Amino acid sequence: MKVIAFNGSPRRGGNTEILLSEAVRGVKDNGGDVTTYNLDSLNLRACLNCGKCDDEGLCVVKDDMQTIHQEIRSADRIIVSSPIFFFSVSAQTKIMIDRCQAFWAEKYVHKKPVPPGMFGRKGLLLLVGGMKQNEKNVGFQCAEATVRAFFRTINVQEHHTLAFDAVDKKGAIKDHSTGLQEAYEEGKKLVARNVAA
Ligand SMILES: Cc1cc2nc3c(=O)[nH]c(=O)nc-3n(C[C@H](O)[C@H](O)[C@H](O)COP(=O)(O)O)c2cc1C
Repeated sequence: MKVIAFNGSPRRGGNTEILLSEAVRGVKDNGGDVTTYNLDSLNLRACLNCGKCDDEGLCVVKDDMQTIHQEIRSADRIIVSSPIFFFSVSAQTKIMIDRCQAFWAEKYVHKKPVPPGMFGRKGLLLLVGGMKQNEKNVGFQCAEATVRAFFRTINVQEHHTLAFDAVDKKGAIKDHSTGLQEAYEEGKKLVARNVAA
């Protein structure tokens, strides 16, 4: 089962990456074949809203997103991980998501959603925020809404989310009582075999 994972944090070795690596370990322990992309290291330009994907069904901006588009197209499982920055996903994550407007055009303008593959397409969202969330959880809600729209656009029909608040200092997630274990278990569950409906 092909899995791709996006690390949306620019802080290498930070909380998002630690959490993601636990989920990736779970995927591998359950037989998944996973590739991780550190979005901050890629050459990704922000969406220009040039409208070419509406016309042609493809993004015409030539950068590392060409590879990411191919990877998204052929993945059975997709993991997005991001820190909360100003009450939403990081800019690195948002740039990648916005560039998937080409998939939106493919699905809704050209009526050709990404095929579900052999196992159906499923997702996992990992979020880490430094602030103690109040009952409104605004940061997590905003990030969830963005990534949910992304997942549905690329035809990931269902996903689970793990969100950890009050995790701020680099590496603080290691002190969380359940965080790493939960991420590992979600990684394992993500590749439990399912056949597309
Ligand atoms: C630019 C910036 C904006 C941030 N905004 C928020 C925020 O709105 N809410 C929050 O809970 N934490 C916020 N944080 C804290 C980070 O989410 C927190 O430090 C997180 O653990 C970083 O994860 P990382 O180590 O993977 O980069 C912000 C941090 C930065 C650098």
